[in-house]
Amino acid sequence: MKKRKNIITVAIDSPAAAGAGTQAKYIAKEYKLLYLDTGKIYRYLGRLEIKKKKRLKDIEIRKKIDSIKIRDLSSKVLLNDKVAIAASHIAKINRVRKLVKNFQMNFAYNPPKKYLGSVLDGRDITSVIMKDAMFKFYITADLKIRAKRRYLELKKLGKRVTVKSVLKSLKNRDYLDKNRVHSPLKKTKDSILINTSKLSKKACFKKIKAIMDKKLKLNGNL
Ligand code: C5P
Repeated sequence: MKKRKNIITVAIDSPAAAGAGTQAKYIAKEYKLLYLDTGKIYRYLGRLEIKKKKRLKDIEIRKKIDSIKIRDLSSKVLLNDKVAIAASHIAKINRVRKLVKNFQMNFAYNPPKKYLGSVLDGRDITSVIMKDAMFKFYITADLKIRAKRRYLELKKLGKRVTVKSVLKSLKNRDYLDKNRVHSPLKKTKDSILINTSKLSKKACFKKIKAIMDKKLKLNGNL
């Protein structure tokens, strides 16, 4: 694949609800980067399977991915817990991951000219999709803290959930995502670990920005 030269590339992996999406959005805004929440693609496919009540064929997946629009990924339905679990199941299938890979890599390495680069978050971004990213982060937080945060987010959206049910679901997804055969979630050796358990969103971003500014200044990007 052809890659646009001299762009800023940021790869983030994290377990669910660790705050990676929030940080990725801050990064995108600060450095004028294109942002993709890659989990949304698996959620989108998971939601289609729930609607169809059967497995999607490869050809259907390819067609859907080819015609996917950013607005398709911003639907609130994709935030449902049922959809998240369906996403984790569909994400185990290597054929599906291969179909999604090109779309994600193109997004990462060929952002439109108005952006200075890209930032992607997910489970296999540092290990598979953007192996040579300029910045690699592994963002995490304690399970209980993640559950509380996700519970509050879902409550705000009017979803009927309890902290216990959210915790159970996150634990289940952590297990599926870390133990699957293909592209499991892991911290690569070259990723910088950021634990957000005791950090506010802003404090966490300050830490990330300090790391990024230092390297970007050295490289002459800033
Ligand atoms: O990030 P989010 O929680 O929305 O992701 C939903 C699910 O999609 C994850 O639990 C994971 O199974 C899958 N996923 C993945 N690879 C990615 C992003 C998400 O397998 N890059």
